[in-house]
Amino acid sequence: MASRDQAGSLVASAGRIGMVASVTINLAALGLYLRGRFLGNREKKAVAALTSTGKPRVTPDSLVNLDHGDPTMFEEFWRGAMGEQATLVIPGWQTMSYFSNLSGLCWFLEPGLEREVRRLHRLVGNAATEGYHVLVGTGSMQLFQAALYALCSPAPVGSDGPVSVVSPAPYYSSYPSVTDFLNSGLYRWAGDANTFDGDNYIELVCSPNNPDGGIRESILKSESGKGKAIHDLAYYWPQYTPITGMLAHDIMLFTVSKSTGHAGTRIGWALVKDREVAQRMSKYIELNTIGVSKDSQLRAAKIIAAVVDSYERQPSAATGDASLLFHFALRQMTRRWKALRAAVAASGIFSLPDEVAGFCTFTKDTMTANPPFAWLRCEKEGVEDLEGFLREHKIITRSGTKFGADRKVVRISMVDTDEAFNVFIDRLATMQ
Ligand SMILES: *[C@@H]1O[C@H](CO)[C@@H](O)[C@H](O)[C@H]1NC(C)=O
Repeated sequence: MASRDQAGSLVASAGRIGMVASVTINLAALGLYLRGRFLGNREKKAVAALTSTGKPRVTPDSLVNLDHGDPTMFEEFWRGAMGEQATLVIPGWQTMSYFSNLSGLCWFLEPGLEREVRRLHRLVGNAATEGYHVLVGTGSMQLFQAALYALCSPAPVGSDGPVSVVSPAPYYSSYPSVTDFLNSGLYRWAGDANTFDGDNYIELVCSPNNPDGGIRESILKSESGKGKAIHDLAYYWPQYTPITGMLAHDIMLFTVSKSTGHAGTRIGWALVKDREVAQRMSKYIELNTIGVSKDSQLRAAKIIAAVVDSYERQPSAATGDASLLFHFALRQMTRRWKALRAAVAASGIFSLPDEVAGFCTFTKDTMTANPPFAWLRCEKEGVEDLEGFLREHKIITRSGTKFGADRKVVRISMVDTDEAFNVFIDRLATMQ
């Protein structure tokens, strides 16, 4: 999940929220870039070489930063095929009140966003919404924290200390840091769920899994019923994996970041079965940020509506149409995974998780999974630290150690720009 990955360009704010490890990498990366570029008369050219994200342009000899899952891949779609359909103008007098719906369970949820979220799930068929409460958060990372709070509070009298938060390794690198950064008395990170023993836990189930793309179900069974699960479904969309069923777990988290590519809008949503849990999650967000930006909610609603509308306009056979988001993204991801597998084969020193295929109820076709991250392992003897090895080739990735795995494996974003991806692939293919 991942705010999703504390976007690399936001070096300053990333520092504030304590992503110490990745910030170090960002600063190192930025430093390398600055040393290489901001020199004498090259300065002007370098400034022009910054993209709209503030990130440096990628050239065949520059640094490629694939540490974060920054979904810039989608920009081409929203610039091109969608025209003005997702453009939103907000007059100065609008969205001034704190409140969105005082009679709703989540008083800061814009009714229009709730409507579009339900439409989107009905279109894709990936999650049940009937009988679920919809909550909005500042990205799904805030909802993740709200869910931890809701499942652990109020702490029962005579409780046996903080609830253990676990996830099977490899797990998303932000789970440990976000769980522990405030040193809560309610819950604490307890590591790999595979080695966990006990009944007082929250299991984080990320499926498809960040970092390795695995399809997961909860692995812990609670005898007393005290154990709970949070399903992080940020990547359960047809561009990344075949949709094989309509999920109906107690707490399911989603985000526009990975579904439509709008990471910067910072909107996530939760589908929550239990009314009391939903109320406590809503309370957390009230205490934490007094609601969620209405402007962002309206924009997310507009974007999701544009996606669903374009599908409703198309006859089902016209899936090659350039205005269909999931089909566009699926074509991109399929192309990228083919290129990556070819580069890994050409190099001969790497390996990837096995390819998984299945029937997708959304595309009505058998398709291979195209995970948002490559979980790349180095098989070459003598390369003990793959992150360091790739950095020597000016490719910034995230070490397996941050995911509860070893140093011979790294996570690499598959959703960056074509430019960055192509340079990465060319370099990888020639590594010996
Ligand atoms: C506000 O919330 C109530 C209760 O959930 C709901 O019945 C109503 O339709 C909502 N208002 C709007 C404008 O959607």
